[in-house]
Amino acid sequence: MTTIENHDYDVLIIGAGGAGLRAAIEAKQQGLRVGIITKSLLGKAHTVMAEGGMAAAMGNVHSEDNWQVHFRDTMRGGKYLNNFRMAELHAKEAPERVLELEQWGALFDRTKDGKILQRDFGGHRYARLAHVGDRTGLELIRTLQQKVVSMGIDVYMECKVLQLLKDSNGHIAGAAAYWRHTGEFVTFSSKTVILATGGAGKSWKFTSNSWEGTGDGHAMALWAGSELIDMEAIQFHPTGMVWPMSVRGLLVTEGVRGDGGVLRNSLGERFMFNYVAPMFRAETAETEEEADKWYDDHSAGRRPPELLPRDEVSRAINAEVKAGRGSPHGGVFLDIGSRRSAEFIRRRLPSMYHQFMELAGVDITREPMEIGPTCHYIMGGVKVDAETTATKTPGLFAAGEVAAGLHGANRLGGNSLSDLIVFGKRAGEGAASYIAAGGGSGKFKQSDVDAAIAEALAPFDRVEGENPYDIQRDLQDMMQANVGIIRTGTELEFALSELDKLTSRVQNIKVKGGRAYNPGWNLATDLPAMITVSRCVAMGALNRKESRGGHTRLDFPEAVAEMGSVNFTQSSSDGKWNGKYQIEGKPIPKITPELKTLLEEAK
Ligand code: FUM
Repeated sequence: MTTIENHDYDVLIIGAGGAGLRAAIEAKQQGLRVGIITKSLLGKAHTVMAEGGMAAAMGNVHSEDNWQVHFRDTMRGGKYLNNFRMAELHAKEAPERVLELEQWGALFDRTKDGKILQRDFGGHRYARLAHVGDRTGLELIRTLQQKVVSMGIDVYMECKVLQLLKDSNGHIAGAAAYWRHTGEFVTFSSKTVILATGGAGKSWKFTSNSWEGTGDGHAMALWAGSELIDMEAIQFHPTGMVWPMSVRGLLVTEGVRGDGGVLRNSLGERFMFNYVAPMFRAETAETEEEADKWYDDHSAGRRPPELLPRDEVSRAINAEVKAGRGSPHGGVFLDIGSRRSAEFIRRRLPSMYHQFMELAGVDITREPMEIGPTCHYIMGGVKVDAETTATKTPGLFAAGEVAAGLHGANRLGGNSLSDLIVFGKRAGEGAASYIAAGGGSGKFKQSDVDAAIAEALAPFDRVEGENPYDIQRDLQDMMQANVGIIRTGTELEFALSELDKLTSRVQNIKVKGGRAYNPGWNLATDLPAMITVSRCVAMGALNRKESRGGHTRLDFPEAVAEMGSVNFTQSSSDGKWNGKYQIEGKPIPKITPELKTLLEEAK
């Protein structure tokens, strides 16, 4: 046994994105001792990649908007796989959470009469996204971070959690971690843990996620006895940069399309018109101008086809490229320069203007952007209770991208930022109620810490072995090729057999050098979670023999009614990353008659 540094809390939050920070504020306001751990730096989270806005039915631009319509849009967008109660709570509480951010200092763009301005996004019936130009996620993080610091909440940066720790009753009791800058180990004892670790996009080659998105929270929850659901549902955001290669996957906000940008193929055709379901098509329009006018009509409930939900737009782009109508670097063209003034573009989309100018030498006020789908978000994640965000493991809570349910099979753009603040707050409350009811000892077993440390150090002890970067590259190539936008049973079987091989290779990693500032070692400690999540996604995808939202099967191209009533649910029998996982289809809770009526009105 080694004696190491320990910090003791009531509520330990892993992750410093929007959900983690909002949860911390809530728990602190309830008088609890709160610590936040981030493996990155405070202020740097995937939250900032939700650029275009946060969805909340405030009715500032369209007074007809209300929570009922937002609920309906979210359920339709999620192809009804959603947890209806989460969708209801989200739609009802989002406006209040946005106003609270404003009170805490967030500077939103304004309508002429001084209200928070809201913009159009795909799948939302009305312009609903409260925004700050195209830097909304950044403003959200900036505001919450300032509040966290002013409240004196402890934040541990560059601290990588290896494993959740439990007490002798199987209740959560803390976490084992190491400092990335020194390589020294540290433990955190805590009555509760809130996972707010975000997503898992780094298992794919082209992704908007940065290095942090390795699915740590998904994996640790599974290993700790919680369940994962809907892991097959992966969101490929339609617009990532495709060129230059060094930035392939970097996000191009949906705000470009929300503000009037359109998609064209190499023939100059506005191809999205061809992907509108036949019953919703502008059959009488003879020119592109007429069709444009017909679709862009809020009062008739019609939106331009570029604002279809993300899964539909990504599949359309994929089909155009496959049909040989793609752009030179394998994407399609996104054009706003010919439709809006340069002044409008620079004011509304300043980051996009600079991003393309500086990285690709493209002036988006005059030239189209080359874009293509990029792995952006995982709808699947830890199964949680809608009211409290509690997981199946006592004392463990999860909020934000790591949690599942709200978005079903496909998330609408803008619903992630509001998810973070609605369920971040609820996670803080949930942890506080658990403690108030006497839950949580904070007494972890030292033997679990010792085992986690031994496993983390093993790559240093091997005389020979593999470079972790080779394994990461092969994983990303394999997932991109076989578990991408369009899947087949054969490819998924192949992916699972490749994951077996990658699992063996991870157990044979050799890391050179010391423990301080060692990125190879840091990656070696991320790979077990990356493999775990990839396996769960492939297993879910193989079992869901239909196409729904962010999961498309070439061999099962239609949605199947019976499949729409189950969540594929995964669990681990031995708590080991290289152990056995189970999967079963569990019925989705039945929607209440009142909410069902809202859905029927939409059809
Ligand atoms: O396109 C975007 O600005 C991303 C938003 C989101 O993922 O919610």
